[in-house]
Amino acid sequence: MPGRDLVRAHCSGCHVEHDGGFERISALRKTPEGWLMTLARMRQVHGLVLDDGVRDSIVRYLADTQGLARPNPRPDASRSNGGPMRRTSI
Ligand code: HEC
Repeated sequence: MPGRDLVRAHCSGCHVEHDGGFERISALRKTPEGWLMTLARMRQVHGLVLDDGVRDSIVRYLADTQGLARPNPRPDASRSNGGPMRRTSI
């Protein structure tokens, strides 16, 4: 079943579908880990029940269509001297 139909089948009971999207879901972007955590929370807090295979398919679908590059912070980048805060004298 395509991911969108899975979301419709398993989420739209609480997340109403409108304007081609699902309430609270469609405006968000998350990493695959983020979507997985969301689904774990939906289970714990809201009693969502999903088979492992279905859950994986939904995570893959959401990460593909509403994904986010894996965060890769570079702590050194902001400290380089090349930016607008460039030192002008010593
Ligand atoms: C039994 C009802 C119920 C079901 C089923 C359900 N949700 Fe939720 N969900 C909620 C409620 C209520 C909220 C708002 C309160 C909250 O965030 O816990 C919410 C919030 C969210 C949010 C926004 C907050 C966040 O963590 O980003 C996302 C995204 C989300 N749900 C995704 C899903 C997906 C995807 C599914 C289907 C696989 C799903 N939900 C199934 C009840 C449900």
